[in-house]
Amino acid sequence: MQKKTVRTGIIGAGFAATFHFESLKKVHSTDVEVEGVFAIDTEQAAQYAKARGIKAYDSLEALIEKVDVVHVCTPPVAHEPIAVAALEQDKFAIVEKPLTGYFGDGSEDFNGETFPKTDALDHSLASMERMLEAEKKSKGRILYAENWVYAPSIQKEREIIEKTGAQILWIHGEEAHSGSHARTYAFWKFSGGGVMIGKGCHPLTAALYLKRVEGKARNGNPIKPKSVSARTHAITRLENFRDEGHIRCDYHDIDDFSLMHVVFEDGTIADIFASDIILGGIHNWLEVAANNHRSICNINPNTAMQTYNPVDENFKDIYVVEKTGTKQGWSSPSPDEDWFTGYPQEMEAFYRTIAYGGPVESSSNLAADAISTIYSAYVSAEKTGAEVAVRTF
Ligand SMILES: NC(=O)c1ccc[n+]([C@@H]2O[C@H](COP(=O)([O-])OP(=O)(O)OC[C@H]3O[C@@H](n4cnc5c(N)ncnc54)[C@H](O)[C@@H]3O)[C@@H](O)[C@H]2O)c1
Repeated sequence: MQKKTVRTGIIGAGFAATFHFESLKKVHSTDVEVEGVFAIDTEQAAQYAKARGIKAYDSLEALIEKVDVVHVCTPPVAHEPIAVAALEQDKFAIVEKPLTGYFGDGSEDFNGETFPKTDALDHSLASMERMLEAEKKSKGRILYAENWVYAPSIQKEREIIEKTGAQILWIHGEEAHSGSHARTYAFWKFSGGGVMIGKGCHPLTAALYLKRVEGKARNGNPIKPKSVSARTHAITRLENFRDEGHIRCDYHDIDDFSLMHVVFEDGTIADIFASDIILGGIHNWLEVAANNHRSICNINPNTAMQTYNPVDENFKDIYVVEKTGTKQGWSSPSPDEDWFTGYPQEMEAFYRTIAYGGPVESSSNLAADAISTIYSAYVSAEKTGAEVAVRTF
């Protein structure tokens, strides 16, 4: 079969835009032509473009017009308008996590701690509906860039569930960091919440995905979340937190620790931790306790390689693993961190869909259930953990 060419526009020129570009180099089912980049930080966009030999655009609309797909690599507050602008032009939108959310009432001094969380739930679901509506009317589609769905360990678990007819009884997972890269992340008005959405969306969406897989394998019906109980905390903003310089602690009005306890419609459960208070490199894993097997899916770190280095300085030019504080002593260097994380597999799957059609594993519908669960969890956390029903899509 003749390979098709897909023309691409990158929106945003920061951390996510960088790993998206790297993954595009590994797409093999289509030829990828990166037309250009657009970001509101024009200086950053110019540097990004120069380093990659592409054009920096000064208008979003002009770039959308030239391409088949845009990669929405901006802070979450801009995901909906950019994705909808692309869909309205019948273009595909690869949208980074979280798909959308609630970013306040527009006031400069909006405080994420003091507003009623039912507002966040109502507004984020309304945003979700607008995006789904735009997708329905478009020839393009939303491709939700939740890399955990495509991570090799999660896909291996999908195979085990499908082929053995497993019943998942309990999923237990975590995404933990020592802080976010993005400066804007400190404010609810840009990020739509704290660590419960920013990091918790990853293991949560993987859990929702695997329960869907289980149900579809059994009788064609995905198993959906029914309710959630949650707690959030702001540990680094406690008056008695003692900053020793290892953990980011300049958050304005967001949580840095969260726990979601999800009950599915079949009565089984998932417990999802997310935090920004963990040292030693990021800690991303999902454990599946099923009726016929148990799996621990290590996304990062994993033990593909373990190295002892007596002198930190010796490894100054060596990337070891994300957010490790030191390279001295024992570490788990990832021979291909992007591969374990699922970035290239995700991009390959999306480009196959864009060029040749076919189903999307990480769809807008899965993203919608994740958004609904997370904002229901914020409502629960406001009530110190009361059970809240989850609306599903
Ligand atoms: N999947 C993952 O592992 C992962 C990792 C990090 C970030 N992310 C997600 O990627 C997204 C971007 O995060 P980041 O860390 O790259 O942020 P960043 O701050 O590094 O970069 C954001 C970029 O978006 C641009 N921008 C901001 N508002 C814009 C707008 N309205 N229009 C056009 N450009 C705009 C900025 O100029 C900047 O270039 C977020 O949704 C984040 O949650 C995902």
